[in-house]
Amino acid sequence: MTVCAVLGGQWGDEAKGKIVDYLSEKTDIVARFSGGNNAGHTVINDDGKFVFHLIPVGVLWPNVQGVIGNGVVVNPDVFLSEIEELEQKKQNVSGRIKISDRAHIVMPYHVILDNLNEISKGNDAIGTTGRGIGPAYTDKAARIGIRAADFKDMNTLLSRLENVLTYHNAIIENVHKKEPVSVNEIYEQCQSWSKKLTPFIDSVEHIVYDSIESNKNLIVEGAQGALLDLDHGTYPFVTSSHPTIGGACTGLGLLSSQIDIVLGVFKAYSTRVGGGPFVTELLNEQGELIRELAQEFGATTGRARRVGWFDSVAARYSARINGYTSLVLTRLDVLDNFDSIKVCTHYELDGEKVTDFPGNISILEKCTPIYEEIPGWTTKTAGLTDISKLPSGARKYVDRIEELIGIPIGIISTGPHRDETILVNPVL
Ligand code: GDP
Ligand code: IMO
Ligand code: MG
Repeated sequence: MTVCAVLGGQWGDEAKGKIVDYLSEKTDIVARFSGGNNAGHTVINDDGKFVFHLIPVGVLWPNVQGVIGNGVVVNPDVFLSEIEELEQKKQNVSGRIKISDRAHIVMPYHVILDNLNEISKGNDAIGTTGRGIGPAYTDKAARIGIRAADFKDMNTLLSRLENVLTYHNAIIENVHKKEPVSVNEIYEQCQSWSKKLTPFIDSVEHIVYDSIESNKNLIVEGAQGALLDLDHGTYPFVTSSHPTIGGACTGLGLLSSQIDIVLGVFKAYSTRVGGGPFVTELLNEQGELIRELAQEFGATTGRARRVGWFDSVAARYSARINGYTSLVLTRLDVLDNFDSIKVCTHYELDGEKVTDFPGNISILEKCTPIYEEIPGWTTKTAGLTDISKLPSGARKYVDRIEELIGIPIGIISTGPHRDETILVNPVL
């Protein structure tokens, strides 16, 4: 029995999807624990390209059961259309997926509120995915959320919706000056979802517990990344959940002592989507070049991702809060085209050296990156599967990142396809 968590080490989009899929062949269960359809996880295999938003990517392997934990917020339309799309692509998944009865539902009014909130913030907008994620978690914390289990008791749902919408409509009408949301329309929508979702709703915490008791292997699929964590990230430019290891415990009902392996997935450079501080951001031609070469456009919203060099101050912080047992370095091939590559070793602020990632974003914004320059390599890494074939320049870059974070690299990804992967050390 092994429980392995695969977590984003930066600001999301580190290629967690590719890595979870790569590791899932010999696992029994793959579980999502946080976020919702703000996530976009890409897998490319011999059957084509798949982008998952809610369903755990591991289900592409026929023996894997996919579970959506209590910590996830579920948009039923997105969930159902994802299943349909997979079935259309001849991936027979619907009998192998469960949603926790404790998972909260992303309602249409959450999507409306997310977008109205962003508009009202003007220049201070967070740059959310607009998928209603923040308002859904806000309702959860305010104890007025609707959970998957509520679809099994439609009698009480109507009065709960009336209460919730009295509150939200007051804000929609009086603050945002928009039309109120109709309780009846939402209730009808819920009746339809109730019929369609009921076969998927289950007690996921029990499934997870029982499978660990019976020695099965579990992969925990992180969404987002450590620096988007509600507590540990660059607040308020964060998501509204906990993509870190603590979130894996609370979002699935796992015990910390049950987690054997924590893989931190890092791109060989940095990206972020939306607003917020980004010390190593490249606002120049080099940044443009990486964005174009790597096609750094969001898998969920299609937005251009901001691009920068690898930031080891942020990476060390990410490692500290997640306790990685090993690292995964992805998209190394993107750097094949550079004469020299920079790595940020520390920051500088008012002439002082900064080695700890600041908690206050106005301080972080004032930090300047101090770089070490590493020569590029002439032989390409793209598509390599054998560590001994890695050009020595690329090996030096990988070794330096390992040294700066202080954790061994177990996997290197050299392309988007499942097979374009180097297993440096067995990680499972
Ligand atoms: P996730 O959200 O962490 O799962 O990552 P995304 O799927 O949003 O973004 C990662 C992107 O990188 C996807 O387009 C992948 O197909 C692609 N990708 C994954 N690994 C590699 C790699 O090693 N090299 C290259 N060039 N692309 C990769
Ligand atoms: P995956 O799982 C990258 C970012 C948004 C925004 C902030 C808040 O694919 O790595 P939200 O809609 O969550 O309220 O937006 O978080 N964000 C992501 N960025 N990858 C993701 O997921 C993200 N999920 C949310 O861009 O800056
Ligand atoms: Mg993504």
